[in-house]
Amino acid sequence: MLMTDSSLQADYTETDIRQLVTQFYAQVRQDGQLGPIFEQNVQNWDEHLDMLCDFWSAILLGTRRFKGAPIARHAALPELSWPLFERWLEIFNQTTATLGKPALQNKADAMADRIAAKLWQTYQAQSSQTRLPDTLPPGLERYSQSPVFTPDNLPGALRRAHNTKSGTWGLLRVQTGVLRFALDQEPFTEVVLTAGQCVAIEPQVLHHVEFELPGSFQIEFFKQVR
Ligand code: HEM
Repeated sequence: MLMTDSSLQADYTETDIRQLVTQFYAQVRQDGQLGPIFEQNVQNWDEHLDMLCDFWSAILLGTRRFKGAPIARHAALPELSWPLFERWLEIFNQTTATLGKPALQNKADAMADRIAAKLWQTYQAQSSQTRLPDTLPPGLERYSQSPVFTPDNLPGALRRAHNTKSGTWGLLRVQTGVLRFALDQEPFTEVVLTAGQCVAIEPQVLHHVEFELPGSFQIEFFKQVR
């Protein structure tokens, strides 16, 4: 589970994060394995670095500026491999070690490991991934909606297996960040949803959610029209 921790703000700032991002991507662009992949896919480096600063600021300082879709972006890259992720992490760890900020180094390295694993897991799974429906069947009428949930107000009950009542459908829509949605009964499918993605929740089907990256989502509730 990813949590924001405001106490970390005392240890490092946006300036340190920009330094990390700038130094890291300067190294990556020179790397024989990773450099060509970035050069082929990144058109505007200023914009890209700004986005990456927003991304790391979301993770390390809990800010809410990041609006990207890393899971989908990496899933679309051809020919990724785990050794490439290992090389990425090696350069990242080398960079964080030069900053002289142990709190930043520890947190950033730990998060990079987790996110790299997640990106690779999703990348591998994409070809065989069972997709969950993202639209509702016809003949339903919307009757209410949940609050907007974030990591700060997500009820524990939604992180554990739960279901809607008989006859109630849900349509979950991710607004920002990354959310894992898992079915807790056959076929036990898990999907990783990014901003704008939806999943239709069938009546009484057990499921749970967890934020992979801080963000927000909302659920609309529907009933069959009699
Ligand atoms: C094998 C390792 C990796 C490679 C080759 C790679 C390559 C790339 C490329 C080419 C893009 C630009 C994609 C586009 O704009 O279409 C990108 C975007 C991005 N990467 Fe990676 N990446 C790797 C690992 C990681 C890891 C481990 C993280 C985070 C810890 C990360 C974070 C991001 C983010 C936040 C973006 C911006 C996503 C967006 O546009 O919404 N990448 N990456």
